[in-house]
Amino acid sequence: MKEDIKEVLLTEGQLGEKIKEIGTKISRDYAGKDLVLVGVLKGSVMFMADLMKQITIPCSMDFMAVSSYGSSTKSSGVVRILKDLDFEIEGKDVVIVEDIIDSGVTLKYLKEYLDARKPKSLEIASLLNKPDRRKAEIHAKYIGFDVPDYFLVGYGLDYAEKYRNLPYIGILKEEVYK
Ligand code: IMP
Ligand code: MG
Repeated sequence: MKEDIKEVLLTEGQLGEKIKEIGTKISRDYAGKDLVLVGVLKGSVMFMADLMKQITIPCSMDFMAVSSYGSSTKSSGVVRILKDLDFEIEGKDVVIVEDIIDSGVTLKYLKEYLDARKPKSLEIASLLNKPDRRKAEIHAKYIGFDVPDYFLVGYGLDYAEKYRNLPYIGILKEEVYK
């Protein structure tokens, strides 16, 4: 795997520190509220697990699965729901937990979809943000890192379902997907 990585963009230590910061903020912002974290499978699993451990107030978690990419590195712009929530979110304070905002198409769709379930509030926490590629307008309350427009893998992010298990975020060598 390592030989396919051009450069480590964010180390395990950098990720851990930032996630701790976000967890502290969420714990403060949602104290006394009915917090539900909704992870977007599968890219957000690492972030979700580490973030939850840094949240010091009661919270529950749920997951949705959507498809936007297939195995290519460019978004198709079409979002399909593969797995819906297990629980109702009406009246709850929901934070969507996502690995990366790229075009923003997936989150825009998800936000509208979840809004229709009448949560009390609905915000977004995304570990990474690629501002250069935005097509849909999206406001995320919590963002870990703004990243340049490279195809990134590791810490949950995949290329054709591979590399999710790298403990850091790396830039994938172009010859791997070209
Ligand atoms: P969007 O709808 O274009 O914002 O796409 C968001 C989804 O595409 C993310 O949740 C990721 O699963 C995937 N994605 C976007 N950029 C990358 C990347 O650099 N590496 C791996 N997956 C990515
Ligand atoms: Mg994703």
